[in-house]
Amino acid sequence: MRKPLVGTGWKMNHGIAATEAYARRLLALLREDPADGLDIFVLPPFVSLSTAAREFAGSPVAIGGQTMHWDASGAWTGEISAPMLAEIGCRFVELAHSERLQHFGETYDLVRLKVDAALQGGLEPILCLGESAEDRRMGQSDSVLREQVTTALASVTAGMLPRVVLAYEPRWAIGVAEAAPPSYVAERHAGLRETLADCWGEPAATATRIIYGGSVSPANGAELIALENVDGLFIGRAAWTPEGFAAMIRIVAEAKQEADGSF
Ligand code: PGA
Repeated sequence: MRKPLVGTGWKMNHGIAATEAYARRLLALLREDPADGLDIFVLPPFVSLSTAAREFAGSPVAIGGQTMHWDASGAWTGEISAPMLAEIGCRFVELAHSERLQHFGETYDLVRLKVDAALQGGLEPILCLGESAEDRRMGQSDSVLREQVTTALASVTAGMLPRVVLAYEPRWAIGVAEAAPPSYVAERHAGLRETLADCWGEPAATATRIIYGGSVSPANGAELIALENVDGLFIGRAAWTPEGFAAMIRIVAEAKQEADGSF
């Protein structure tokens, strides 16, 4: 049904030489221990994308950008567009990461323009969503997530929806010691699936992947990926080494094998 997804955002880590070394080591590990039937991605910094594209060419590892501008070209100093990412070999682009919202003033209204431009440019947006600690305390998590989804995807049709990956990343669970509790993650993912069904219909909702991110590690990955409605894992720190990422890929591959075997 939904193909499991496992990926890592490198944030501001790994320049050209480190990217080359990471890619070679990761591919060697995947040759020893292949992971079939998954979508795998890495999101390097812009300057390392062409190196990543070259090293991962013809491999099961796709690459993507960590953000982009909504315009295709123009007077936007410092920015990168969807056509540029596509040309360099990106399949994905991450949008609305909480660090972009918190430190660079992005809003979901702007993110909507980016989603539209990404889809138009042939990229698959990985749309980050997440409530703050305050939202959670107020019991508003599901309504905040619904607002984020409906704002960012306001112009996406049911036909296009499955090209979008939703990445649920509670803001209070990113870059900390522990991921969100599995029962809490299960409730939010179920709520997101329900929002998709309400707004785009059941078939589109069923075909769209919702992945979890926020302090995912080898200690909690198996429990998180086993949850209904969790279609993949999005990893930061634990996948910044090739060995770390390979271990997380193995966890997702094993969960898939178990799920396939249980039908
Ligand atoms: P983390 O990062 O796994 O290091 O918490 C996750 C993210 O920012 O997507």
